[in-house]
Amino acid sequence: MERTLAILKPDCVRKNLIGKVISHIEEAGFKIVALKMLKLTVEQAKAFYSVHKEKPFYNDLVKFMNSGKVVVMVLEKDNAVNDFRELIGATDPKEAKEGTIRRLYADSKQENIVHGSDSVENAKIEISFFFSESELISNES
Ligand code: CMP
Repeated sequence: MERTLAILKPDCVRKNLIGKVISHIEEAGFKIVALKMLKLTVEQAKAFYSVHKEKPFYNDLVKFMNSGKVVVMVLEKDNAVNDFRELIGATDPKEAKEGTIRRLYADSKQENIVHGSDSVENAKIEISFFFSESELISNES
């Protein structure tokens, strides 16, 4: 079964939307394999988003991701990576399709409520960034 990494970002936590967003995720057929709440350090946020380090929004993104607690989750489903990206919608909530999580709840391109891995390969890297093997027990076992 395919896995993806989701992060409910500091804006999601601040707006008391954890439960609502998780309901969308579960109703869309994803199983939550692992979940934790934590505050990213500046170093962790920089490392997690290092692919964007040359982008003009990188420093603000790091500041935002360090501005409060996040919820990180490993989600499992057939076609999890692409289906999750469909469920959350485009980076810019104004461009996201009706009914997607970002269209419903996000305020801006930066404060866009949720992160989802963009490929199966990156999902593996991002999952191992936050979770050890022993925390990743499949729901089917
Ligand atoms: P995410 O899916 O977590 O991946 C990279 C993040 O960078 C993205 O969501 C946004 O939070 C942020 N981001 C991407 N593009 C922009 C932009 N043009 N301006 C500000 N933030 C951006």
